[in-house]
Amino acid sequence: MYYDKLDDFPPDFLWGAASAAYQIEGAYDEDGKGPSIWDVYAHQPGNTFNGTTGDVAIDHYHHMKEDVALMAKMGLKAYRFSVAWARVIPDGDGAVNEAGLDFYRRLIRELKQNGIEPVLTLYHWDLPQALQDKYGGWESREVIPAFAKYCRTLFHAFKDDVKYWVTFNEQNVFTGLGYRWGNHPPKVQDVRRMFAANHIVNLANATAIKLFHELVPNGLIGPSFGYGPVYPLTGAPTDVLAAVNADDFNNNWWLDVYCRGEYPYFMAKTLTRMGLMPDVTDADRALLKQAHPDFLGINYYHGGTVQQNRLEKPVAEAAKKDFSATDPYLMQPKADQAQSPEVPMFNAVANPYLKKTDWGWEIDPVGFRVGLRQVYEKYRLPLFVTENGLGAVDELADGEVDDQYRIDYLAAHLRTMKEAITDGVELIGYCAWSFTDLLSWLNGYRKRYGFVYVDRDDDGPKQLKRIPKKSFYWYQQIIAQNGAQI
Ligand code: BG6
Repeated sequence: MYYDKLDDFPPDFLWGAASAAYQIEGAYDEDGKGPSIWDVYAHQPGNTFNGTTGDVAIDHYHHMKEDVALMAKMGLKAYRFSVAWARVIPDGDGAVNEAGLDFYRRLIRELKQNGIEPVLTLYHWDLPQALQDKYGGWESREVIPAFAKYCRTLFHAFKDDVKYWVTFNEQNVFTGLGYRWGNHPPKVQDVRRMFAANHIVNLANATAIKLFHELVPNGLIGPSFGYGPVYPLTGAPTDVLAAVNADDFNNNWWLDVYCRGEYPYFMAKTLTRMGLMPDVTDADRALLKQAHPDFLGINYYHGGTVQQNRLEKPVAEAAKKDFSATDPYLMQPKADQAQSPEVPMFNAVANPYLKKTDWGWEIDPVGFRVGLRQVYEKYRLPLFVTENGLGAVDELADGEVDDQYRIDYLAAHLRTMKEAITDGVELIGYCAWSFTDLLSWLNGYRKRYGFVYVDRDDDGPKQLKRIPKKSFYWYQQIIAQNGAQI
């Protein structure tokens, strides 16, 4: 559908930008903070790119006021950040660290005083290490009450000041990288354990949402899902079937649980037959049915293209595949491994029509519209784009960063988002990834996403000077005109 005139963005549209605690805060052991699984993992040699860590990151912990002042200058309507669980409850389920809580209290106050809506993410991958050591992390149901306690602490502390809450950031990504590909903590390569841990996160998500609705009746809460639409490589019916499979495997396995309170039927049957289905009790089923998110957060970077999986080995044999050659510094497995070998339902392939970023991520603004349409049609929940952005190498020249390529990327995505709104999708906001440059989990500091350049690299923090890029001033104009120029 092509329109000669697009609908306006809603008048109260939340123009925002996002971040995550581990990627920006630094101060990893200050003011009583406990270690997270990322602190420990990044300190082990060989786990991260060039040995980069979030020990200092961009030192937002000590530059908070300066960063919020830049947000205010830009005119941001919303800022999405995450709370570091181990800063608030250092050992995960014990006493609350008031100094840690106070950092977020000050941040939220600063945001509100500048007219910026806080969007608080409860979990962006930095589990307290103590819970990993004590219980085995997300593989244990013991973590669910610990998460509930942490959530209750934050709900009580911020229920009057924070309206928008995100439960889990990209559950599909952190369980996949942590338990399937083994390039995030806890570095496990076992798809059965991935599905089991993922089920426990589902229960924690549902527990948090239920609790939220009891304690924060005026707030809104939902998970942020790393979503990508799936295309068949060709019109061959076998490829189309592979795309149906991949949509179940990559998307519906999470989205149906969040939005319908149950696992997708065909996929559950397949996993049961393969012995990969997690243990789901009647009480689990009842809990999942009771939790209803108020909105669905969508993180969109790219979709995926698939063809029929020609792997003919039986599943058990395929599961023994050696993943040791998987490049730990890429968010995705290498091309010849980008398939679902343990569950031979499809093969992921490159899309011949799409260009890629310097890090090999396909650039697909139309897929954004496709995805928003598909998800809204299926679940009819308001959507909140909680991440979208371009990772690139930015050069500082004469004190300025000319990131026209980022402007082009974001403008194309905003355009298709506006088309999706015109189609009828209910969108409440858009948080670009990211506000400042920050640590890329597995790519260090060279891969930059921010509107604000931060003077540091993989070797060290340098001056940590904040320098607005060209895209900063562009987004400032977009916000000022509520996207009318798109
Ligand atoms: C998302 C995460 O998956 O992608 C962010 O929520 C992350 O935390 C972003 O930084 C970009 O990934 P990367 O690997 O390019 O830093």
